[in-house]
Amino acid sequence: MILNFFKSIGTGLLIGLLTACGGGATSSASTTPTATPLSVAQALFAEKALSASGQQACASCHTDDNAHADATATLLPLGGVSMDQQGFRSSPSLMYLASNTAFRFDANGLPLGGFTWDGRANSRAEQASGPLLDSAEMANIDIAAVAKKVRALPYFNDFVSQFNVPTVSTDQQIFDKLRTALQTYQQLDTDYLLFNSKFDKVADGAATFTAAEQRGLAIFNSPSQGNCASCHTSRVGPAGERPLFTNFSYAALGLPRNPLIQKNTDPAFFDMGLCGPKRTDLSTRTDLCGQFKVPTLRNIALTAPYFHNASVNTLIDAVGFYATRDIDPGRWYPSVNGQVQKFNDLPLSYRGNVISTTPFGQQPGTAPLLSAQNTADLVSFLQTLTDDRNAAPGSLTVGR
Ligand code: HEC
Ligand code: HEC
Repeated sequence: MILNFFKSIGTGLLIGLLTACGGGATSSASTTPTATPLSVAQALFAEKALSASGQQACASCHTDDNAHADATATLLPLGGVSMDQQGFRSSPSLMYLASNTAFRFDANGLPLGGFTWDGRANSRAEQASGPLLDSAEMANIDIAAVAKKVRALPYFNDFVSQFNVPTVSTDQQIFDKLRTALQTYQQLDTDYLLFNSKFDKVADGAATFTAAEQRGLAIFNSPSQGNCASCHTSRVGPAGERPLFTNFSYAALGLPRNPLIQKNTDPAFFDMGLCGPKRTDLSTRTDLCGQFKVPTLRNIALTAPYFHNASVNTLIDAVGFYATRDIDPGRWYPSVNGQVQKFNDLPLSYRGNVISTTPFGQQPGTAPLLSAQNTADLVSFLQTLTDDRNAAPGSLTVGR
């Protein structure tokens, strides 16, 4: 990967490199001979000067080392003008989104596709407006504020030349080209589609699973046991596509409310995914309240904490939630007057939307469908989905 070079020298240096040929005061019309759409777009993705605080870039919440999800030990991302505003959703991995589509309802009326946990953005370019303008993220007041920051970048001329920005451009044009560039970065950097995990190597006959990993895969795929693959697709696609471990559909799992989310101190606040509040066009579809997009499980070992509300800290507990939500609800939900408050992150009237299909749906106290051993095996298998970010360029399965 050519990008390893840029990554190893860091963004500050990269920008220095891009502007090094500029020649100081006379640089206003100059471009860097080595600039490419990818080098410019990557610099923009890592550009803290695009935030109101000057301290936050896209890459701050989507870090290289964690499959472009939150940095290790981040509970929920902080942002805003003073970097003290807490968001209420976990930053998802940005890997393996290339084949995701705009949001739609399929032939059976089921929601599918779209970007973010509630699918409200139809493309990665459209999505980029969110963090740039969100008061709890990069916190720009408006498009003009963003355009002003872009024009002031030392590598603005490279941006203009690599992304065909009109010489005399409006704020809206600069903003749109910036969004295109951020999407282009995620399309061109091979880091976003590595396909070189142990799972892929086994599929290519270049590695073998341990006994525990093999058992975990069988449980993952079995419709009567984990049934995980019914949402987190593990089969090769019709045209030989490698599985993405998501089918980009939606489900309401009834996760526990996370008391560490500041917004949740308001008992009337609920993040209900498809029916709002972040998304506003489906607010009357109360049957969809509680549904969030199925995320990829590739690199899942790198992206704790888990689920849209970061309510589960470890992978073993994330799998344990599926195993014991219904047989041991007291493990997951608080009790009030001896009553376990199941599905307490949804208003009472929408708790019926939560699914009870396999692996859920067992009575409290009955023998678990997924034993502690099964759970451990599933985790062993999920750990084989971690990509090798340091694989040599051109090595087996990189970038397919
Ligand atoms: C403060 C942390 C933060 C910053 C900064 C940030 N993001 Fe995100 N990103 C998130 C969170 C949280 C979500 C989930 C949002 C939601 O579901 O409403 C997300 C979602 C996304 C998604 C959708 C992923 C999916 O699975 O559909 C993309 C793409 C993305 N961000 C790209 C970017 C880009 C490009 C930037 C810079 C312009 C950026 N992000 C800046 C936290 C951040
Ligand atoms: C009915 C569809 C469905 C099935 C079946 C399913 N999942 Fe999920 N999975 C989801 C959805 C939807 C989410 C995100 C839910 C949320 O955050 O609100 C998710 C999230 C996860 C996460 C956290 C991902 C992250 O990025 O935070 C893990 C881990 C996971 N699932 C593992 C499994 C395992 C293991 C199984 C089988 C035991 C399984 N899933 C079965 C739909 C499903």
